[in-house]
Amino acid sequence: MSTFTERSLFHAHPKSLPVCTLLIAVLLIQKAGAARFLPDGSPLQFHFYDKSCPNVEKIVRQVVSSAVASEARMAGSLLRLHFHDCFVQGCDGSLLLESIAGVIEGEQEALPNANSVRGFEVVDAIKAALEQECPGIVSCADILALAARDSVAVSGGPSYPVQLGRRDSLTANRELANKNLPGFNFNVTDLVAAFASVGLSARDMVALSGGHSIGKARCNTFAARLTPDPQDPTALSSSYSSLLHQQCPAGAASDALVDLDVTTPIQFDNAYYSNLLSNRGLLHSDQVLYSTPGATRDLVNLYAQSNSAFAKDFSVAMLKMGSITPLTGSEGQVRNQCGYVNA
Ligand code: HEM
Ligand SMILES: *[C@@H]1O[C@H](CO)[C@@H](O)[C@H](O)[C@H]1NC(C)=O
Repeated sequence: MSTFTERSLFHAHPKSLPVCTLLIAVLLIQKAGAARFLPDGSPLQFHFYDKSCPNVEKIVRQVVSSAVASEARMAGSLLRLHFHDCFVQGCDGSLLLESIAGVIEGEQEALPNANSVRGFEVVDAIKAALEQECPGIVSCADILALAARDSVAVSGGPSYPVQLGRRDSLTANRELANKNLPGFNFNVTDLVAAFASVGLSARDMVALSGGHSIGKARCNTFAARLTPDPQDPTALSSSYSSLLHQQCPAGAASDALVDLDVTTPIQFDNAYYSNLLSNRGLLHSDQVLYSTPGATRDLVNLYAQSNSAFAKDFSVAMLKMGSITPLTGSEGQVRNQCGYVNA
């Protein structure tokens, strides 16, 4: 019987053979192509790994949940990694590359990152779990996008679908990291310009600043604000100022870490914005959003009043940030280890 079937397939209809071969070839190419990478310049996709790694989102979520359960701050640290990745040559995992003398001048040593960015061991743990599940499929840049989303969600913030299909860079750019990442001393003009240079609006900037609803900062990032200047509209409220003096007894030299959101430090919500209304923004770049009259102040008022308006705009802005010049096509790769380009 089976012999007959085989014979009939191969011998009975010789004219259908070319059609069959073509069909099989097309199916094979589609399977490999869909799993491997998007054509150069094409947009990211919501369902990119549905066939090639259907459990990717579940696995990332599990590792992020357990990391945040053992240390709440990790949610902020992971969220910040995605931001600092995307602002420097796009969301391509460039931030994750370790420096190698004479080969790669990594971004982790850039001024805004040095002694500050963290969470790499969690990214490595996610990557290891995914390599077990579907080897060579999920990029490190996509891991950062998913981990950022889940960090916000497990901290009580909004969740949103994430577009995927980024590939990992073969390069990093420390100079660009120093140039593109906004500074804590920036005014509104500087902040708007920094976000505009990667295609994000002032509204995106104010919503994304709400990332400071979780996480911590070192004393030296706000120490200049501890010396009161009554003329300064961004001056700290006096009670908040005394709290910060206690937390940073040696000013900039204190190696303490201080919550960015004094009200609900590990809850992702709009309290960050109400803090600004009472001069309890930790960084200069936070407080200016409210103290500078104009569009950013109006948005701070809106988000302080409505957690759902904040959640909506934050989600939209995260999607926009996540698709800053994504690396697709053949110039990228899926790294085997997030810290190193494949051999
Ligand atoms: C608007 C311009 C921004 C400036 C000037 C800024 C600056 C900073 C600074 C100075 C710190 C403390 C770093 C340290 O202690 O060394 C920090 C921490 C943090 N930033 Fe921003 N940031 C900005 C926007 C954002 C955005 C867009 C996000 C995410 C959507 C974000 C998320 C975070 C988080 C979660 C932390 C805490 C990280 C941790 O605890 O490990 N920031 N930021
Ligand atoms: C903002 O700061 C820059 C320096 O970073 C300065 O040149 C500019 O005048 C400031 N703008 C305003 C409106 O204060």
